[in-house]
Amino acid sequence: MDKIIVEGGRTLKGEVKISGAKNAALPILVSSLLTEGRNIYHNVPKLQDIESISRLLSHLGAKIESNDNTVEIDAGGLHEHEAPYDLVRKMRASVLVLGPLVARLGKARVSLPGGCAIGARPINLHLKGLSQMGASIELAHGYVEASADRLKGADIYFDIPTVTGTENLMMAAVLAEGVTLLRNAAREPEVIALADVLNQMGADIEGAGNSVITVRGVSSLHPAEVSIIPDRIEAGTFMVASALTRGDVTLLDCEPEHLRGVIHKLKLTGADIRTNGKVICVKGADRIESVDVKTLPYPGFPTDMQAQFMVLMSVAKGLSLISETVFENRFIHVSELRRMGADITVSGNAAVIKGVDKLSAAPVMATDLRASASLILAGLVAQGQTEVHRVYHLDRGYEAIEKKFEQLGAVMKRVSE
Ligand code: UD1
Repeated sequence: MDKIIVEGGRTLKGEVKISGAKNAALPILVSSLLTEGRNIYHNVPKLQDIESISRLLSHLGAKIESNDNTVEIDAGGLHEHEAPYDLVRKMRASVLVLGPLVARLGKARVSLPGGCAIGARPINLHLKGLSQMGASIELAHGYVEASADRLKGADIYFDIPTVTGTENLMMAAVLAEGVTLLRNAAREPEVIALADVLNQMGADIEGAGNSVITVRGVSSLHPAEVSIIPDRIEAGTFMVASALTRGDVTLLDCEPEHLRGVIHKLKLTGADIRTNGKVICVKGADRIESVDVKTLPYPGFPTDMQAQFMVLMSVAKGLSLISETVFENRFIHVSELRRMGADITVSGNAAVIKGVDKLSAAPVMATDLRASASLILAGLVAQGQTEVHRVYHLDRGYEAIEKKFEQLGAVMKRVSE
């Protein structure tokens, strides 16, 4: 297992190119299961999670070729309908194969993903929707088994807007008989990106990005060639890094429209942020102001940026309140940040942060993807050398992270433990 050693105290300056979005690439690669023929995907980030989903798709019978950031997938030979425990437990998003497998093969057997570090994360809403579409669902031996001759359109209401739930049911509905309505659907840019790809494949989806999505079933789809949208969470992480180190960082190939909530809050902390087309420039202020944040489904402030923003508030002037409303247990980074001198008190789903003048370096342990990113950020402004252990979480979601930080003037190195 690798650790990353971060030298604190450098001001970040320069340009960084934002990679393709992990959370858009995962469902889009899975959508290849819905058709025969060669799909071509550009701007796919090189990440552990992409390897995990590729391994699962190969196991199901898809042929995959990767060349740099381009991935080609042909699921003409799809023959296997089971996503085994070993592949699913590494990455919860593997559950995305459920809808497409039932749509294409009429059956699926997928290991239940179980809980994870940030909460229970059930998939009841995915299953309820599939069942409304006529699938028979059984849970046995830790697996969900779903089958249907042909799924039928249905009027589905999500109790909570779930991102992968919306994506799963959208993929199930494209080949269903009749019209499916997805109400209180997730409105994340990654949902829109998937709908765009499915429409390019011949699907008939309207309303993605709104809370009601209409899917008119078609009898078959054809392959597509598409490019993955930029990763708004990677972009947000570098924006916070610039604000935190009083830096001057220019982000290239990003999508400012997807980052409105983050830009708004960062401006309130005093950062100077300018956007121009696909470029965002972030200049950090000498004095970082305290700002309250509540995480919400898109277009609210993303839960995937909460840990990073908390680091910024740890060295801000005054008190701030961060409320986490999306996941019930997403403050696991707090105890590690406290070990670096942050003054944070947690009560239920709220954290009160009293800004301190300086953080101090310490050995810390990464516990989930975004928590790991927050520890790297804390290391950038801590006095001394911070050792972030178990960085495999980071490799799940950030492409070439230490190279990108080094380009901006940070001093960090990866060491095998
Ligand atoms: C996706 C993202 C993840 C992000 C999250 C919230 C991917 C691969 N992952 O995760 O990075 O943090 O959205 O923006 O895109 N819920 C239920 N029942 C369900 C499904 C969800 O109760 O059947 C609850 C969850 O426990 C959570 C909330 O709904 O409290 C939102 O979760 P959801 O949007 O489903 O998250 P993911 O799609 O797993």
